[in-house]
Amino acid sequence: MENQHQSIVAMIPSPGMGHLIPMIEFAKTLLLHHNLSFIFIIPTDAPPSTAQTTVLRSLPSAISHTFLPPVTLSDLPLGTKIETIISLTVLRSLPSLRHALLSQTAAVTAVVSDLFGTDTFDVANELNIPSYVFFPSTAMALSFSFYLSQHLHQNVQCEFRDLPEPVQIPGCVPVHGKDLLDPVQDRSNDAYKWLLHHTSRYKLAHGIIENSFLELEPGAIKELQREEPGRPPVYPVGPIINLDTGRTGNHDCLRWLDEQPRGSVIFVCFGSGGTLTSAQMDELALGLEKSEQRFLWVVKSPNDKVTNASYFNAETQANPFDFLPKGFVERTKGRGFVVSSWAPQTQVLSHGSVGGFLTHCGWNSILESVVNGVPLVAWPLYAEQKMNAVMVSEDVKVALRPKVGENVLVESEEIASVVKNLMEGEEGKKLRYRMKELKDAAAKTLGENGSSTKHISQLALKWQGKASLTN
Ligand SMILES: *[C@@H]1O[C@H](CO)[C@@H](O)[C@H](O)[C@H]1NC(C)=O
Ligand SMILES: *[C@@H]1O[C@H](CO)[C@@H](O)[C@H](O)[C@H]1NC(C)=O
Ligand SMILES: *[C@@H]1O[C@H](CO)[C@@H](O)[C@H](O)[C@H]1NC(C)=O
Repeated sequence: MENQHQSIVAMIPSPGMGHLIPMIEFAKTLLLHHNLSFIFIIPTDAPPSTAQTTVLRSLPSAISHTFLPPVTLSDLPLGTKIETIISLTVLRSLPSLRHALLSQTAAVTAVVSDLFGTDTFDVANELNIPSYVFFPSTAMALSFSFYLSQHLHQNVQCEFRDLPEPVQIPGCVPVHGKDLLDPVQDRSNDAYKWLLHHTSRYKLAHGIIENSFLELEPGAIKELQREEPGRPPVYPVGPIINLDTGRTGNHDCLRWLDEQPRGSVIFVCFGSGGTLTSAQMDELALGLEKSEQRFLWVVKSPNDKVTNASYFNAETQANPFDFLPKGFVERTKGRGFVVSSWAPQTQVLSHGSVGGFLTHCGWNSILESVVNGVPLVAWPLYAEQKMNAVMVSEDVKVALRPKVGENVLVESEEIASVVKNLMEGEEGKKLRYRMKELKDAAAKTLGENGSSTKHISQLALKWQGKASLTN
């Protein structure tokens, strides 16, 4: 009887671990202070992966899950973009989603989908359940979403990268069209049409949950919270980060970090999906060597030598160390530490020896760095990462962004100079100070009377349903 909640919140993550994990962390955050229960109802195009089931089985009993029957995508042409695949997986899962919602014994008080899941609104509406969007990226990207569907799409005729002037997203630093997110880079592709479809439907939600906070993105958040007809309330609840990913920290690299001086090591990691070309990997290795700084590098096989890496799981069979320049490991021994494919990022970033983070600028990585007060080298790769890089380097000013050379590579000299500047230069000092201020602000906003805490409580109150309100 203990788990017999009378109401439940349905979380519908779009396919991919990168979408599942932030929603799980959000649900766990709500559970810290509120008596709620959640069910993750997961659209798929394949049987669940071990990574998914491992994470889902480790959750508290108030969070249950069910996988919807896999949909068929075999009609999609080769080269179909990920945004299209994700959107169609959700769309084709709607009949089974409807069935899953109807078969809940508890009253479903909210349907929470994410940025590519707006088609779930139709089922929720039909069943009279309020729908919410969990937006796992920046307030800047959310502001861009409204701006795209309400203004840019109609008023710009060319490709955005061909615009002579930067795009002025309301409340944000100007961004060049080529730095906007991937799916807008080819307006004739279905991926763009899907993005437009979702962004123009955000206004139909009862609320949008934004994983950011006022001190980090004041301009964009004030803009989003401005009352405007047709815009639902936006609840900034961040920074919500991945506190554990199921694999924890008895890793060799942590013992190595224990032996390094305080704040002396730069952590180099391009996230779970990020890889470099072999030419770029050579430049990075030489750059780290020339920087004369201590480094901890999560090395992955280059993307032009290994053709198998799938989008959702970039782990490969090949040994990434085979692709490092000859003699590199020996020459940097003691000062550098390389690990293959994965490191316990949460423990690494909170380790006192780490004083910088060279990152692909995935939003979760940036937030983890903010929470730990670690300044950045911004090296974006895909999705909305270039926009994130512009924000952290030009607006928030907690990152240095190396320049891409004429041969489309970031050259070793540039890498060495930027890394050195971050770790021991005057500019690095300023960035570190600013990051420390944000770290304190992040702790405060998630503290007892903080604004993210208040937004989380407002949502919990709405979602608890009548039964719990009388408690
Ligand atoms: C949580 O809510 C359920 C259902 O409303 C109720 O039965 C239970 O007693 C509550 N638990 C606590 C600790 O308040
Ligand atoms: C690619 O995949 C095939 C089949 O799964 C496997 O045999 C091969 O070793 C893989 N190649 C690399 C470089 O990982
Ligand atoms: C939060 O606000 C309450 C009531 O105003 C106050 O008693 C408490 O000390 C505050 N807590 C913090 C951490 O500021």
